[in-house]
Amino acid sequence: MTRDELIAFFEDLHRHPELSGEEERTTRLLRKALLNAGIELLDPGTPTGVIAVIRGKKPGRVIGLRADMDALPVQEETNLPYASCEPGKMHACGHDFHTACMLAAALEIKRREAELGGMVKVVFQPAEENAGGGVVVAASHELDDVEEFFAGHTYPGFPAGTLGIKPGPVMAAPDAFRIVVRGRGAHAGNPHLGVDPIPAAAALVLSAQTLISRAKDAFEPAVLSITHVEAGNTWNVVPECAMLEGTLRTLNEDVRRGMKARLDALASSIAQAHGCTAESEWKSGPPPVINDAGLCATARDLALRMGFSVKEQENTMGGEDFSEYLKRAPGVFIRVGTGGGIPNHHPRFTADPAALLPAAHYFAELALQRAGISS
Ligand code: NI
Repeated sequence: MTRDELIAFFEDLHRHPELSGEEERTTRLLRKALLNAGIELLDPGTPTGVIAVIRGKKPGRVIGLRADMDALPVQEETNLPYASCEPGKMHACGHDFHTACMLAAALEIKRREAELGGMVKVVFQPAEENAGGGVVVAASHELDDVEEFFAGHTYPGFPAGTLGIKPGPVMAAPDAFRIVVRGRGAHAGNPHLGVDPIPAAAALVLSAQTLISRAKDAFEPAVLSITHVEAGNTWNVVPECAMLEGTLRTLNEDVRRGMKARLDALASSIAQAHGCTAESEWKSGPPPVINDAGLCATARDLALRMGFSVKEQENTMGGEDFSEYLKRAPGVFIRVGTGGGIPNHHPRFTADPAALLPAAHYFAELALQRAGISS
């Protein structure tokens, strides 16, 4: 793939964003490009998405490269000549960049097949944004033999030509919770004849933040946000129940477990203190993304040798289902500088196409070297 062909492919994906689980056109284009290059395809276990495999002629390791493919329900405001044609849908997280980048990497690895020992599997994963795709694809038996996984993600805070590589935890486990505080309805003029759930819910909203300051080591990051509060529907009725929804984000599995238990306990004790009951329900997100230290050193050395500048990426409390792969084998989640300065998921987010070919070349080289290259 030439630089121009790669940029054209990226711009085409950008014009036609598809939401999580709906990546049919993207899958069709990928399959066509991969099959045209004579690359073997494997079933990722999801209706959309694809796994490409390039088998070396000599023994070596099995390496996985992973790209996600889905867009977001965001109305684009970039004014780019190749802006989204789909109202209310946008590649606002750069997954079009990831898809194009890993396609070009797959094609390069195929071209250099004679040098390859081991095997490279390039995973094009659907539905990252709603965290459903990674669980299914990472569990596919087609990936059972993968020994190391690598993925890249657009990063507007670094310019093209810079990679962010950092060992240890780099993205959070994003868990969602819903707490229902139940009391007993009454006439608002006679609250003593019922049990008002609203003061209990209000006390819980305020007390929950003390878990961040009191219930964990100060050196362990965690965020707790209550983002949705609902109770009652008029001014003169004490409602039966109050509902709180929010998210807990942690970088460490022990802190994650501990904080969940503490929030559950706090909810039921505060409810009880007000004569109410509380039920909490958790929707667990993927685990935190934790980069392997040894592989980070290797990835960093290669990046420097290839002329990239390398920075320590910043941690974010966002989630990423690449961690589903890292549950099965070590790997590295690398931030690819794509400039622009507007954060991911924003309607004016852009990814500099100049970063595409160098990133594709880097991931191809990384996979070839880790799989086992022979000259
Ligand atoms: Ni993303």
